[in-house]
Amino acid sequence: MLKKCLFPVAGYGTRFLPATKAMPKEMLPLVNKPLVQYGVEEAIQAGLTEIGFVTGRGKRAIEDHFDTSFELEHQIAGTGKEHYLDSVRSVISEASFSYTRQGEMRGLGDAILQGQRLIGDEAFAVVLADDLCLNDGDGVLAQMVQLYNQFRCSIVAVDEVPKDQIHKFGVIAGNEIKPGLFQVTDMVEKPAAEDAPSNMAIIGRYILTPDIFDIIRETPPGKNGEVQITDALLAQARKGCVLAYRFKGRRFDCGSVDGFIEATNFVYENIYLSEGEGQK
Ligand code: G1P
Repeated sequence: MLKKCLFPVAGYGTRFLPATKAMPKEMLPLVNKPLVQYGVEEAIQAGLTEIGFVTGRGKRAIEDHFDTSFELEHQIAGTGKEHYLDSVRSVISEASFSYTRQGEMRGLGDAILQGQRLIGDEAFAVVLADDLCLNDGDGVLAQMVQLYNQFRCSIVAVDEVPKDQIHKFGVIAGNEIKPGLFQVTDMVEKPAAEDAPSNMAIIGRYILTPDIFDIIRETPPGKNGEVQITDALLAQARKGCVLAYRFKGRRFDCGSVDGFIEATNFVYENIYLSEGEGQK
């Protein structure tokens, strides 16, 4: 049974400076809820209730967010404002939260390796909170957990992206074993458009089997001199099996200003207003 989900959140969020100078980029709000809470809610919906964060300097607001604020609770108890805390209260009661730090920024592969202290020797999920994934039915992680229960190997979420965007992603090649599910044969981190093995980009949702930790340890720095999870996954695919899953749902790149604004508008119109929040 999968129950752990890792959130690498040590990145600086330079594209959102100066907003992210003293505040973690994961705490930027999409309307009234911080980005990271959407990812945690998606994990909980998938039954992943042991949440681990790989943090860095300046990320304490994330810990405070997923903790009870007695002062605030006391102030608003019994007032008409209490419902504003409903969503974060239920997240706090349904999940547990642990933290470890990535001392040096050595890439996503290294960040995941630092998470081994929180994960131990079991399969786990990884969420990159910058990628907001929304779906009416099961969220992307819930879809991936179902696949993991069937196939018992590492799985990455993929999405088709236009050629001029492909250099921003890890890109896979694979054999389609059933509609939307591929056995990975190749994986390249942020290739030039002409070198990309396909138009299928890795999105920030992974399920990883624990042998990935030893593979990461043996993975030399790759693109941009960083230890890349994409390279470790290719090694894992060559030894055994890695699947790529074209998920159902919509993805927003909240790591870019344009994607963040698009997501904000979408959440405002399709979630916030429809929940009647606008009238309260
Ligand atoms: C990371 C991964 C990349 C993946 C992307 C998804 O890159 O290294 O393979 O496609 O997340 O968002 P980053 O965007 O952190 O540079």
